[in-house]
Amino acid sequence: MNPATSSVSAISLRSGESLPIEFHKVRVVQRVNLAPVERRLAAIREAGFNTFLLPTRDVFLDMLTDSGTNAMSDTQVAAMSVADDAYAGSASFERLLEAARELFGKERLLPAHQGRAAEHVICQAFVKPGSVVPMNYHFTTTRAHIELAGGEIRELLRPGSVEPRSTEPFKGNIDVLALERVLDENKGRVPFVRMEASTNLIGGQPFSLANLRAASVAARSRGVPLVLDASLLGENVWFMKRREAACSGMTIPQIFREASALADIVYFSARKISSSRGGAIMTSDDKLYYAMRDLIPLFEGFLTYGGMSTKEIESMAVGLRESCDEAVIGQSPAFIEHLATRLDAAGVPVVLPPGALGCHVDARAFLPQLGPADYPAGALVAAFFIASGVRGMERGMISSSRDAEGKEIPADMELMRLALPRRVYTLSQIRFVEDRLEWLHENRELVGGLRFVEEPPVLRFFTGRLEAVGDWPERLAAKYRRDFGGGL
Ligand code: F0G
Repeated sequence: MNPATSSVSAISLRSGESLPIEFHKVRVVQRVNLAPVERRLAAIREAGFNTFLLPTRDVFLDMLTDSGTNAMSDTQVAAMSVADDAYAGSASFERLLEAARELFGKERLLPAHQGRAAEHVICQAFVKPGSVVPMNYHFTTTRAHIELAGGEIRELLRPGSVEPRSTEPFKGNIDVLALERVLDENKGRVPFVRMEASTNLIGGQPFSLANLRAASVAARSRGVPLVLDASLLGENVWFMKRREAACSGMTIPQIFREASALADIVYFSARKISSSRGGAIMTSDDKLYYAMRDLIPLFEGFLTYGGMSTKEIESMAVGLRESCDEAVIGQSPAFIEHLATRLDAAGVPVVLPPGALGCHVDARAFLPQLGPADYPAGALVAAFFIASGVRGMERGMISSSRDAEGKEIPADMELMRLALPRRVYTLSQIRFVEDRLEWLHENRELVGGLRFVEEPPVLRFFTGRLEAVGDWPERLAAKYRRDFGGGL
């Protein structure tokens, strides 16, 4: 990186206000369309009140996820044109290996077509019926793969971590004493301990380097490997540098290396960490490597492409290197902080402190009139789409599954996630989100519940269809029309 490169993601205005600012310029754009509220209402109905089922032609700002939707840099796009297409021994793979070794300090890399494919391979290699996998918190696909292999998860967050409002800077920390207890009570049944960077489902909340170190000591001293889900490690590293005194004097590459050194296996979704596509598993432990290696050609593809195109591999290599740039890894969290702070000041209940990936809105507090059976987070996401054309994602009970008897298990949190993919949206678009969300909050009593009409048994949130209980979507759209007149 050029030594003159800015290493911040915000600037101070004369008033002292901190303004998140873009350390990039826009050179390629994609036209988006804001449909009238009547069309938004029809679109969410056609999509079964499930934003995964909306076509993008009906979406104004796509805040469903940052997965595969972060903006690529010009250097990443350029790298794609020098891809070496070969089934085996591609030079593109060598370039990826070199970049990944530099960032993570691990010797070996197994490519996979995306993050969940890496989870599939890790779980098929190590999880057996009866296995117990302790972790700070689950991610949807991780849990599904652990359970598919016959294991169960143990979530060991510290008390208060799922409280939406908090001043705790590291809500993704694992409870180390609880971890030691689970390890001691389940000797021989724990294939690995899993730590997830910028813990996705609780609002993108980071863990501290000190906590990762303590978890690593607890696991390794008992002969258990530590697996690090590094999909959102860039943002977690950025938080460590800003929030953890011991990290403030370290460089971003040093924190990356140190975090990675505490893990025996590092895996990631390249759709997130490197603003590209694909995924990978890294380790320096030959025993672990050989336990997984032969599953790659079986499930993914040969060892030098793993189901990815060589173009993706090239953009991933450059994207991993760019993860050391604070303006890259800090861009999304800085914008999230701006949005969350302003919403909080306006009385809209958001998850605090602001985390990674997106601004998370606390649906239980936003819609107190709804009970768990009304799916408050799902209802809020649908209502917000009607109010704005912005596509968020439900992260609550719909994103979990029922118990063995078919009963709903209340989720720890009922969140609407408004993802801010890196470098994609401008501050005026963020201000639009803020304005329409504040409008919805003022009109929150109009919002009612949802119920399933089609419910798949596994990962139901992707393809399930719901309907509104009553005619609240129509009444909400009518109020919008009255308030905004002929405007969009
Ligand atoms: N781990 C974490 C922490 C993730 O956030 C994701 C994906 C995965 C693993 C799986 O990776 O999508 O490449 O297969 N998260 C996306 C999201 C889907 O929208 O939060 P993948």
